[in-house]
Amino acid sequence: MSLTPSWNFGSVGFGHIALPPNAPNLSSHKSSSDCGASGADEESTAGTEDVGRVSVFDAAKAAAPDPILSMRDQYNADPAERKLNLAVGVYRTAEGKPLVLKCVQEAETKLLAEQEAGRAFKEYLPPDGHSKFCDLSLKLLLGDAIDGMLADGRVAAAQSISGTGGLHLAARMLKLLMPDATVHLPAPTWPIHPDIFEAVGLSVAHYPYYDAETGGLDLDGMLAYLRALPHGSVVLMHACAHNPSGVDPTAVQWAQIAAAVRERWLVPMVDAAYQGLATGDLDEDGAGARALAAVPGVEMITVQSYSKNMGLYAERAGVVALLCADRDVASRVQQQLSRTIRLTHSSPPQHGAAICATILGEPERLQAWKREVKGMAERLLEMRAALAASLAKCECPPPTTSKRGSWAHVTEQRGMFTYTGLTPAQVKALRETHHVYMPNDGRISMAGLTTATCGMLATAIKDVLHAEAKHAFAEPATELPAAKRARSAA
Ligand code: LMR
Repeated sequence: MSLTPSWNFGSVGFGHIALPPNAPNLSSHKSSSDCGASGADEESTAGTEDVGRVSVFDAAKAAAPDPILSMRDQYNADPAERKLNLAVGVYRTAEGKPLVLKCVQEAETKLLAEQEAGRAFKEYLPPDGHSKFCDLSLKLLLGDAIDGMLADGRVAAAQSISGTGGLHLAARMLKLLMPDATVHLPAPTWPIHPDIFEAVGLSVAHYPYYDAETGGLDLDGMLAYLRALPHGSVVLMHACAHNPSGVDPTAVQWAQIAAAVRERWLVPMVDAAYQGLATGDLDEDGAGARALAAVPGVEMITVQSYSKNMGLYAERAGVVALLCADRDVASRVQQQLSRTIRLTHSSPPQHGAAICATILGEPERLQAWKREVKGMAERLLEMRAALAASLAKCECPPPTTSKRGSWAHVTEQRGMFTYTGLTPAQVKALRETHHVYMPNDGRISMAGLTTATCGMLATAIKDVLHAEAKHAFAEPATELPAAKRARSAA
């Protein structure tokens, strides 16, 4: 039996649905034979007038490939034996394996025991999710600053479908409450950020962040931009381990950023997807968010994910919160947040949130998790040192984009990623010639490396840079436009 779907619209309408006057002219579309209908299909439509077939969903345009996930997919499809996946920001062990944290396994054992004892169930959570998890999560990011805010009732919070779901909810809330808002994003930023806000009809703009000259933060550019923004502008900031640049403000710089926020009454939106993985210390990695939350009277948004730091990628555990001016506003914002969730996914998944709440809510488990996070951050640092050593050992030239002419940024940047400075053409050559996969912006996931593969990456980069230089040298010198114009005029 053929499984080819066969739609027979008959001569007058879609089954019992009458065609609207502006319905597409079905007969002008592909005939069933164009679509590869089988004999069985033809039989099933026998006796009705076959006017051809068309999809009511025909308006769908092909979507551009995802800049990050498409690279992982290409890696998976590559039959080469020696290949390297540095595309997606997921943690891997020193053996290159995915990791289920020990504290997570222990929390799951406890949760299962509770279920067996009839004390835990799989009933719906309310739309805004596991409230204890939300409070504990905010405490983890904002420290003591959250206690007073929670006590004052000026926090609207909800469990989110991890970080991306939290950003989407934040975007929906902004569209509802500040429909003409522009969301100001760092340049560069996670490539999905602009699309999340634009998808709900918000505008985005970019503020200076990464300084290619120094490989560090363009603090002056950033502060000048923030100080020129209209009051109440929404500014997205990465809490730590900036994705993709690996460049974070220092404590002193965060204080300056917080002062600019206060000066212009800006609304920071803190995206915290890597807390703990920048410095290895969860509190230190919350310092930026805490500096912003300490601005008197600040209203801000926080979005947290436990995908990376707790390894809960597929559990989709996260929290979105709007810190409001007072209890009355927060209570209405909370109602709208819950309503928005009710109309999207209705209520969030429970398992990941229950794991997080179990770990965050018990001091011993929390300490055990902190140790594991520290271990993960240390491995990322080890990979930085190992890659730098491999690049030096094979005498790899610096990236052509580096104004400093060095690979020093590999060890200076922090967190999951190194922003290599490789150009899209070099990234393509690495992929096609050496089976090394990364997004076109040249970002590599340091967790994708092991001591065994750092050398492979370094020699692959060297080969690509040399090949490019050789090619440029062999190319006949291009004629300067002015000389060309003069020649054609003559
Ligand atoms: C990344 O930047 O690689 C991660 O945040 C995974 C993702 O969803 O893009």
